[in-house]
Amino acid sequence: MNALRHVCVVNNSGIKPAVLNISHGGCRRRALYTIIPYPQQPVSYKFMGVTIKSAEEIEKMRVAGRLAADVLRMVESHVEPGVTTQDLNDICHDFMVNQQSVVPAPLNYRGFPRSICTSVNHVVCHGIPAEKKLKNGDIINIDITVIKDGYHGDTSRMFQVGKPSIQGQRISRIAYECMKIGIEMIKPGIRLGDIGHAIQNHAEKNNCSVVREYCGHGIGKVFHEDPQVLHYGKPGTGLMLEPGMTFTIEPMINLGKRHVKLLPDEWTVVTKDHSLSAQWEHTNLVTESGFEVLTLHPDYGL
Ligand code: MF3
Ligand code: CO
Ligand code: CO
Repeated sequence: MNALRHVCVVNNSGIKPAVLNISHGGCRRRALYTIIPYPQQPVSYKFMGVTIKSAEEIEKMRVAGRLAADVLRMVESHVEPGVTTQDLNDICHDFMVNQQSVVPAPLNYRGFPRSICTSVNHVVCHGIPAEKKLKNGDIINIDITVIKDGYHGDTSRMFQVGKPSIQGQRISRIAYECMKIGIEMIKPGIRLGDIGHAIQNHAEKNNCSVVREYCGHGIGKVFHEDPQVLHYGKPGTGLMLEPGMTFTIEPMINLGKRHVKLLPDEWTVVTKDHSLSAQWEHTNLVTESGFEVLTLHPDYGL
């Protein structure tokens, strides 16, 4: 199965869908709806195929988001040379199930065999925890998704293993800046193409590239729902944001070329040129005046 075919399969079933040439007709058809201003919105409904969350759902997503953030905060001290990604999986799994009473969303999701994703060095995303030990200078993305009370919180960040390498630090920083630039643009009336363009611009002006086959996604009761949030694009295009929408921004940024390949395990995505790749992710809410990051941890900030 080649990468593109995989993406199509993935896309049809709703996992982190990313494909090319998507356009959301993003006009604000206010007249067709009676929109009660956030946060009083009592029931969820769909707008241009995108769920607008009710006040009650948003509160549940705040709880799920904070729990996902807590897992990342907890695992940080365990990321050091000699630990295996399987160890990190087990530590997170135990914490989620026994301390937090949440469901680790990745486990058995479309057949994914572990509770978290661990993507080391040239692995772009969906790395499967295994017995390989982390070594000094590695970079790793740990991606946590919890389900609490039926709602998902999805967040990931980079960690440096032991003494940070110059290149590892650089790609992690640029990926972080790409995510932050995207999140800080979120407000009603802006379009997804505006956000994708700003992210792409920041990556490319730093001589890095944006992975196109995977993207951010709407999230709520469903792990991966509309809209697709591309990390590249054209200003003035795509879905127009409305208060009550919840979606991730999770740019995957490569130090070399943007092209990726899928390993035979049918999950692990790596850079074709084996260059380093980094990713950061938050789950975000569109508010009346801007945004709220639902997966923020007070110790980390954005
Ligand atoms: N957490 C990933 C995302 O950001 C999805 C992981 S799906 C899995 O969308 F099956 F690989 F776990
Ligand atoms: Co996600
Ligand atoms: Co994720």
